[in-house]
Amino acid sequence: MNFGNWNVTPAIKIAILFTWGSLSLGSELPSPGLISVVPKPAKMERLGGTFNMTRSTVLLVDPGDAAAKQVGRHLAEQVSRATGFALPVLERSQAARRTTSITLTTTGCDLSLGGEGYQVDVLPGRIQVCAPDPKGLFYASQTLRQLLPELIESPLKITGNADWSIPCMKIRDAPRFSWRGLMLDVSRTFMSKNLVKRYIDLMGFYKLNRLHWHLTDDQGWRIEIRKYPELTRVGSKYAEKFNEMGGYYTQAEIREVVAYAADRKVLVIPEIELPGHSLAALASYPNLSCTGGPVSIHPFLQGVNIHEEVFCAGNEKVYEFLQDVLTEVVELFPSPFIHIGEDEVPKSRWKACPKCQARIKSEGLKDESALQGYLVGRMNRFLQNKGRRLIGWDDILDGTVTSDVAVMYWTREGGLVPIVRAGHDVVLSPTDPLYFDYTYEVNSTRRVYAFEPVPEDLSPAEVSHILGAQANFWSHLVRNEDGTDRQIFPRLLALAEVLWSPASLRSWEEFTVRLEEQKKRLDLMGVRWMRELQDSSRSR
Ligand code: ACM
Ligand code: ZN
Repeated sequence: MNFGNWNVTPAIKIAILFTWGSLSLGSELPSPGLISVVPKPAKMERLGGTFNMTRSTVLLVDPGDAAAKQVGRHLAEQVSRATGFALPVLERSQAARRTTSITLTTTGCDLSLGGEGYQVDVLPGRIQVCAPDPKGLFYASQTLRQLLPELIESPLKITGNADWSIPCMKIRDAPRFSWRGLMLDVSRTFMSKNLVKRYIDLMGFYKLNRLHWHLTDDQGWRIEIRKYPELTRVGSKYAEKFNEMGGYYTQAEIREVVAYAADRKVLVIPEIELPGHSLAALASYPNLSCTGGPVSIHPFLQGVNIHEEVFCAGNEKVYEFLQDVLTEVVELFPSPFIHIGEDEVPKSRWKACPKCQARIKSEGLKDESALQGYLVGRMNRFLQNKGRRLIGWDDILDGTVTSDVAVMYWTREGGLVPIVRAGHDVVLSPTDPLYFDYTYEVNSTRRVYAFEPVPEDLSPAEVSHILGAQANFWSHLVRNEDGTDRQIFPRLLALAEVLWSPASLRSWEEFTVRLEEQKKRLDLMGVRWMRELQDSSRSR
């Protein structure tokens, strides 16, 4: 391969060789490859010609539209590294004529596109983007990024005759589901703020919009709570030899990540696990357990994932503590949903605890499951008073809870249908196929791509309770960044398409062609994706 007068370093040459290894080069520079947008837009129609982005291209927004300006600046920054262009974002009235332009507007757009939809017209001299909401402008900008040649993702500047063209076309696009998520477990293995931001970038690129941040568990408490400093002083550190794996986010860092995500149209949903999976909290404040402790943080050993020690549901001090914690959480996270765990709660401590038994009696509760329902009810009312909604793992239904409680479905016997029929909003994250800690032999990319969130026998009203789905990455088995990348990619792209694109457009064969193109982009972005064995692509 001849790099001509491209000003590239050996590292990027390797990347380019790898990236374009399969394209035949008629002239010095390769022509743009196949169009590969993931998730596939709802409607895309090719027109003749191309739009060429050059250093004199301008981004145009309506006067005073700060949100569109932010999207424009973001796109300008995303294309600046590879191109070296500093594309200005100008208000429409300031535009000089005869430059090529990309216009981002929210005025006069087709409202039926909804809060995340957009239209794009790529014409030879200009690109016109219209979306009723800035979220749609952002998604349009990520589509444009994917329509540019893949070298746009180069971390190093490409000079010479690089061709930054986009084929002319019309796109009309909107998502199928409103909850398109990824869960990151930062308790079992702490992830740095910058790593979380990197996954947020990748989520935005593939139009995913919900980051479920699993901040607390038996292996670590990862969020600073001002009123309870022991939670991070004690609770953020693994016991024994895992000590070096500790870590937590300060409230300033949390705010920084939440704002970073918002710029990429990702909403961050915090999870504070209770009453189970709470050894880190109880090691910090043992008086909140039924026994009074001592409690130690448990290094995650395969097969030992559920621990007896839980918050005492008969102790009023526990309710005070949980409400104080949630008060700070609500201040940090604008998310309408606050996740409070509720999975895998052993009842042995409650059975033996005089306080818990007294509470069961005084509240007229049937048993320990009803006690969990009582606790959920109190947390629900507390969050409602703060203008938020409670969401919990599907085990939350072990106790009686009101139908306004949202449910994250992962493994419940009886499946999804009875949950939506009982009127709960549901987010799907079934272990099969959306647990991304599982191997690709179990949950292959193909299997993820075949996942259909809506069961056949639901009425439209029942279907409306299915908010969407998310992949869950539990971090107990894979504890380094390379491995985490591979667990998440490329199968996250399959999920992105399931959740965004119309079901009628889904074709595994056609997707695999686009996926191969996307892998070249992932390479340039430094994402280490899993090379699946042929066998793991089988449809089980
Ligand atoms: C879970 O996997 N325990 C929600
Ligand atoms: Zn108790």
